Amino acid sequence: MKVNKQLGFATRAIHSGQEPDPLTGAVTVPIYPTSTYVQQGIGVHKGYEYSRVSNPTRTRLEQNLAAMEGGAAARVFASGMAAINAIVSMLKSGAHVVCGNDLYGGTPRLFNQVMVDFGLEFSYVDTTEAKNVERALRKNSRLVFVETPTNPLMRISDLAAISEICRSRKVALVVDNTFMSPYFQQPLALGADLVVHSTTKFLNGHSDGLGGVVVCARHEHAEKLAFLQKAAGAILSPFECWLVLRGVKTLAARMEIHDRNGRIVANFLAKHKKVKAVLYPGLTDHPQHELAKRQMRGFGSMITIETGSLRNANKMLKKLRVCSLGESLGGVETLISHPATMTHGGLGAKGRAAIGITDGMVRLSVGIEDVDDIVEDLDQALNAI
Ligand SMILES: Cc1ncc(COP(=O)(O)O)c(C=O)c1O
Repeated sequence: MKVNKQLGFATRAIHSGQEPDPLTGAVTVPIYPTSTYVQQGIGVHKGYEYSRVSNPTRTRLEQNLAAMEGGAAARVFASGMAAINAIVSMLKSGAHVVCGNDLYGGTPRLFNQVMVDFGLEFSYVDTTEAKNVERALRKNSRLVFVETPTNPLMRISDLAAISEICRSRKVALVVDNTFMSPYFQQPLALGADLVVHSTTKFLNGHSDGLGGVVVCARHEHAEKLAFLQKAAGAILSPFECWLVLRGVKTLAARMEIHDRNGRIVANFLAKHKKVKAVLYPGLTDHPQHELAKRQMRGFGSMITIETGSLRNANKMLKKLRVCSLGESLGGVETLISHPATMTHGGLGAKGRAAIGITDGMVRLSVGIEDVDDIVEDLDQALNAI
């Protein structure tokens, strides 16, 4: 089946790139665990030469993810960070990147502790005000890197407004869409040039593999990224490609339940006497609730709460029974993390204070368990504070 944008989202998720195997009729894409391919003569082959360059299972996943984000092509990598690394590897020394100031902690770690040594420059601004992006752009700016909602503060940036600024200045807009998945947010349709995901999260959905993808609006970027797959080699293995192909088949169904559970849990937490604040774009008191309604088809299941102190957070987290304390998000199980010591530990106390991440903050990735069990578990854990 060709990528067909007329088909609905769930249909594309299940069928695009996931056509039955032409050899056997198998309804699932075969895993091709091969390093190389026999050639019929010098330069005569069936389109595959060596698996760092391309692999049939990977090709199918790349077709599928491009169809879901509405992109021209996609390239998959060994992790979300490998995908982000490939994006900035397309730049030349001396280039400048404007970034959101509340990104997943691993992203500024890569930019500030690795990429600056290769002559790239990074500025961090609050992208919830599109004007801040415009002000930060320089002559040598080549990329704007935005995450929305942000991690862990759940701030929303106006992608249509930022993409207009980027277009007028001929700067590419990259959006990390990991928190929403293509089911709830489609940045390319709002004018972004590249979308990146940690497929480790909602796309895979089962917490059983790492991966990353860059979906490109234009073939020119996809070709550069294919070259980087070949040149640098941080590709996703055939088995992990297959895990994501399996996972995305239920993406639409899972996201509906994640969203429904997320709204119920956020409303419950907003009324809980031990919770000092709830950050969730689906709550009407969220500062960008109206923008979130416009830009996203759902609010998802990522919620950050303020417990008041490190001690309170620790007391609560130790009491969890159904929910688990752990890094990561987007799996079927409810996972709760502590940003100050986990994802954002690398920013240091000063860095965290500058953007408003406190020691008492706890981030929830609400799973698809029975929501009453999640609420009951959170209630008993919070009452231990
Ligand atoms: C928003 C976001 N982007 C990127 C990443 C990095 O992905 P990975 O862990 O697959 O390298 C993460 C990881 O938590 C993330 O939350």
